[in-house]
Amino acid sequence: MIDILDRVRNKELRSKIVSAEEAAAYIKPGMNVATSGFTPSGYVKAVPTALAKRMEKEPFKINLWTGASTGAEEDGALAKVNGIAKRMPYQTNKELRNRVNSGDVDYIDMHLSESAQFARYGYMGGSVDVAIVEACAITEEGNIIPTTSMGNTASFVQQADVVIVEVNVTQPLELEGMHDVYVPLDPPHRLPIPIVKPNDRIGTPYIPCNPEKIKFIVPCDIKDHTRPLGEIDDNSKHMSHFITDLLNNEIKEGRMPANLLPLQSGVGNVANAVIHGFVESDLKDLSVYTEVIQDGMLDLIDAGKLSFASGTALSPSPEGLDRFYRNIKEYRKHLVLRPEEISNSPEVARRIGVIAMNTAIECDIYGNVNSTHIMGTKMMNGIGGSGDFARNAYLTIFCTGSTAKDGKISSIVPFCSHIDHTEHDVDVIVTEQGLADLRGLSPRKRAKQIIEHCAHPDFKPMLLDYFERADSATKHAQTPHLLNEALSWHQKFVETGSMK
Ligand code: COA
Repeated sequence: MIDILDRVRNKELRSKIVSAEEAAAYIKPGMNVATSGFTPSGYVKAVPTALAKRMEKEPFKINLWTGASTGAEEDGALAKVNGIAKRMPYQTNKELRNRVNSGDVDYIDMHLSESAQFARYGYMGGSVDVAIVEACAITEEGNIIPTTSMGNTASFVQQADVVIVEVNVTQPLELEGMHDVYVPLDPPHRLPIPIVKPNDRIGTPYIPCNPEKIKFIVPCDIKDHTRPLGEIDDNSKHMSHFITDLLNNEIKEGRMPANLLPLQSGVGNVANAVIHGFVESDLKDLSVYTEVIQDGMLDLIDAGKLSFASGTALSPSPEGLDRFYRNIKEYRKHLVLRPEEISNSPEVARRIGVIAMNTAIECDIYGNVNSTHIMGTKMMNGIGGSGDFARNAYLTIFCTGSTAKDGKISSIVPFCSHIDHTEHDVDVIVTEQGLADLRGLSPRKRAKQIIEHCAHPDFKPMLLDYFERADSATKHAQTPHLLNEALSWHQKFVETGSMK
């Protein structure tokens, strides 16, 4: 209790400290509940756990808006009791994914940079009824010091009439000062976002909050349950080498400085492994302007190769989080966390010339990319920030293993079963087989590059055969397709369990 009192520095606010159950009782069916959290970092834990218990006894649903995915105590617990009616803007939790794919949850999968603005304009169905946010501390003025993520928290607090703050006593106080909070005005009043390099600071180190809005303060001692990352396998190492070779060539050609342009790297195992691969390269004095900071970034800082990283969330593995906490004094010199409207801002990404490296589920022979849907129908996670960066980066790279599910699926297909990033947004595709540089190529030339360099040998002849027959049947049309066959590979997998 002493720790929580120390962390609530505004003495008057201390009278608002209540149990999670008491705060959860405030939430009514159908409310728009907007929370902190971006990946399983900085999400709220005590109140949703209590809310889920209440829903178990008296079933009802809320609409849940967050920064991105959250952890088991939030998305997992609420999905388990079928307590979510509408969810935006991203998720990765298995229970929730099942609810999304069985029609129980209306899932609005959207560009993360736009999600706060969408909520502010009321497109999500009304405004924020209650914001629940995790804090490290509350200042004497009532301002909120966030924890391991920024996400959409600042905008949600700004919009909400009622704020519930979960003060998490497990989050180190050294996080204070690591945030740069700036919520843009909406058009037509918006001003240029004055970031020209990743370490520019433009806002406050806290979320401004009128203390009168704070209705309850809930002590919480549950740690972030971050997701383990997969082992860095040979395939990822190959992809990382192909990318570093490409970037070294860009330097040689005089198109990038010796320390490159700011790197952006996506979520998941492959993205993390690719970034880790930079540790073994000769590159140094790198900078990062990205969304999530995973273990690979910490590796780069430890190796003395990364000067500065700007993101919206720390999303390390559980071991990575321990490593971050142990060396927080050193890491915080190199890191800043911003609202996702800023970390993922198309304006900033285009201005500073980000190198965007994200992972695809599948790519087609013309360079379209599917990041979200398995066999064109089932939601995996969501588009996240991949579209924010892909369209606006200086150089847009997508990685994927050339096959999935023990080689039964080709991740290079005739036509993507769902398209998140169009051929116009994709510069480079990389698999463990090789790299296809699509810049300046027409679709028919791209197809040859992608099949030649990226397809797995088991599927290469089938892809070439498709392309040649389509090319001939359409008399060399701009983008040759056999419409009755374009999705036949997916159909075959659905029927037989293999694309072969
Ligand atoms: N067909 C079917 N399933 C496929 C597949 C394909 N072509 N390619 C991959 N998968 C499956 C894998 O088998 C695995 O399934 P499992 O969880 O049942 O084992 C799952 O997709 C994840 O694949 P993995 O190879 O482990 O990659 P990852 O962890 O790097 O995640 C994405 C890849 C695409 C799912 C992930 O990067 C993502 O959600 N991206 C979209 C959001 C994004 O890019 N955000 C970053 C913005 S900053």
